[in-house]
Amino acid sequence: MANTGATGGATADFAVRVTLLAVMALPMMAFAPLSPALPAISAHFADVPNIDYLSRFVLTVPAIFIALLSPAAGFLVDRFGRKRLLLGSITLYGVSGLSGAAFDSLPLLLASRGVIGIAMAGILTATTTLVGDYFAGQERQRFLGLRGAFVNYTAVFVNVLGGLIATFVMRVSLARERPRVAVTVAKHHHTWTLIEESRCFGLHLLCEDNLEMVWKFGLATARDTTKFVGTTHRTEATGSPILDDTIGWLDCRVEARLDIGDRTIYVAEVIDGDLQSQESPLTLYRLLELAPPDKQTKMAQDVLHDSAVDTKAIDKWRGRDKGGG
Ligand SMILES: Cc1cc2nc3c(=O)[nH]c(=O)nc-3n(C[C@H](O)[C@H](O)[C@H](O)COP(=O)(O)O)c2cc1C
Repeated sequence: MANTGATGGATADFAVRVTLLAVMALPMMAFAPLSPALPAISAHFADVPNIDYLSRFVLTVPAIFIALLSPAAGFLVDRFGRKRLLLGSITLYGVSGLSGAAFDSLPLLLASRGVIGIAMAGILTATTTLVGDYFAGQERQRFLGLRGAFVNYTAVFVNVLGGLIATFVMRVSLARERPRVAVTVAKHHHTWTLIEESRCFGLHLLCEDNLEMVWKFGLATARDTTKFVGTTHRTEATGSPILDDTIGWLDCRVEARLDIGDRTIYVAEVIDGDLQSQESPLTLYRLLELAPPDKQTKMAQDVLHDSAVDTKAIDKWRGRDKGGG
């Protein structure tokens, strides 16, 4: 056996445990954050025939490569050692993970996902072997249990919180005891995936003091940033995050949904809510007046981008009975 770089004993110090857990979360990170992006990938490559079917290969291609190449990784881990295989695989993971930013082609995207699958085969094999080296008996069982919990919790936190600025919102019930709202959310937004999965959401009324929230939630996607960092929030009955520093909030559970191609209209029951301040609500007109030039430019760019995505999706939806999707 080649030099493994491991102690070979059952005693692993804290740094080793943390490092192993962090590296073992990498394969999950290549899957979990991408699932919500599938509608956006489909929308981006809307011209490619059968894109809704093909976009799912973004998730399955790496899995195929992991299955095919794990035996070879087992050979390499003994031939060249744990450390070399692990470092090489992490490097490959990083390069292939970033490569998507350099091209705009579905075949190349799928090829890069194949390479990331090769990297993951190396990472999974090297880390599993290291666990065998560092831990024995009960200690090994305990560490593997901890690993399962850590990876699953990481997956939850990677995906679960998000939100956007919405102006397509209206009251849709006259009965005060049966309050309902309707919101319209574009399918390529991360928030759409969160509502589809949870079937609930929190709605907030903003005022002029909340301008920073508008930029944070309305001009960036939760696929790139963690929007709730720096806010104080809690959860109410549905489990949706409710922000503290807004004029008012509603905790909503989806009762009906209508797919209109580019967007989904959600009709939701209002479970609970409160008015936290008497400040005047921020209107779209006032928002445009208050926005500094860079934010005005970004909003205009986003409107152009979203309109183009929506146009394709509406046309595809209208042609759905003629085999268009
Ligand atoms: C003033 C304003 C109003 C918006 N209204 C809506 C809306 O009603 N529905 C929608 O889906 N997106 C709307 N958006 C766009 C989203 O808020 C924005 O694209 C957000 O960054 C999406 O984030 P996400 O990908 O994390 O969900 C609006 C944006 C702004 C700035």
